[in-house]
Amino acid sequence: MRILGIESSCDETAASVVEDGIRILSSEVASQVAIHHRYGGVVPELASRRHVEAICPVVEAALMGCGMKVRDLDAVAVTQGPGLVGALLVGFGFGRALAFGAGLPCVGVNHLLGHVHSVFLEADRKPPVYPFVALVVSGGHTALYHVPDPLTLRLLGQTRDDAAGEAYDKVAKLMGLGYPGGAVVDGMAAEGRSAGISFPRAFLDKEGLDFSFSGLKSAVARYLTEDGGKTPRVDIAAAFQEAVVEVLVTKAFLAVKRMGCRDLIIVGGVAANRGLKQRAGEEARRQDVRLHVPSPSLCGDNAAMIAAAGYHYLKAGKMLALEGDVFSRATDPERQGVLHR
Ligand code: KG4
Ligand code: ZN
Repeated sequence: MRILGIESSCDETAASVVEDGIRILSSEVASQVAIHHRYGGVVPELASRRHVEAICPVVEAALMGCGMKVRDLDAVAVTQGPGLVGALLVGFGFGRALAFGAGLPCVGVNHLLGHVHSVFLEADRKPPVYPFVALVVSGGHTALYHVPDPLTLRLLGQTRDDAAGEAYDKVAKLMGLGYPGGAVVDGMAAEGRSAGISFPRAFLDKEGLDFSFSGLKSAVARYLTEDGGKTPRVDIAAAFQEAVVEVLVTKAFLAVKRMGCRDLIIVGGVAANRGLKQRAGEEARRQDVRLHVPSPSLCGDNAAMIAAAGYHYLKAGKMLALEGDVFSRATDPERQGVLHR
């Protein structure tokens, strides 16, 4: 079963052909980072316009990349939400029209479920075993899910304010490092020493699985002002990263224990973070948990993960209605198997 995946929920226009939900035949990602960089964040209208320009060439490149024509496809999978509505509408409208014109089935995929399926695309690694716990950490989301089957996400906890990636981006901005700054701060943290600087860890209530990162960001802002440039930036980055990673890892393993699972997956843009991977790896060995983190190219937004998740929608017969529409928020009730408490 060969599925064309299309993703346009934020600032990446992406298309990919994936076979049977696990084998990547081609994957194209057109990043808009250069466009949004100077604004310090994604400008929704600019994102939509760039998607309109990029969508045809990106889909064409994905098809050419595996030597296929539209008639060789079995289905089209498009991101339906959550994300920026104007951005989503471009990929969603394009994918649905393409499927309609070619007489192919079309499925609307939840972006977060897409991130979860990114771990099944590592051909040379053992996939996670259901049920497992998923930590989804990106620029827009920080949440823990119990995943009992390929199409269900049960929310266990989520951020009450900023997403982890958002905290990284804000701290990068405070340090004048540009947007998005997660990877840059990660690189700096590797060179710094956190000794002597302790930023607050927002564990909220000890037993809870919710997160909060806005206080940490404010603490870094205060530190930068009061310090007046005395402390090396790399040390501040290291201390910030340590605070983020400690909370993410502690809560993720608490969730694994509570749900009685053996497998934990960490997905989304922030899953590329080296500090997070290292700390989670140590904890996994200690607690005898199987940890799955996709390679960096599959952590950020891509369309292979949408095609991979789409395969399960298709198998379950969850085709899009002709009058289907996009949705912006993860908390829209009962959207495509994503259950919220
Ligand atoms: O999943 P993604 O590409 O887009 C969203 O759905 O949000 O995630 C992008 C986010 C950005 O906030 C970026 O700064 C962050 O992931 N990020 C990182 C790293 N690489 C990307 N954060 C920390 N460490 C990294 N190495
Ligand atoms: Zn994403």
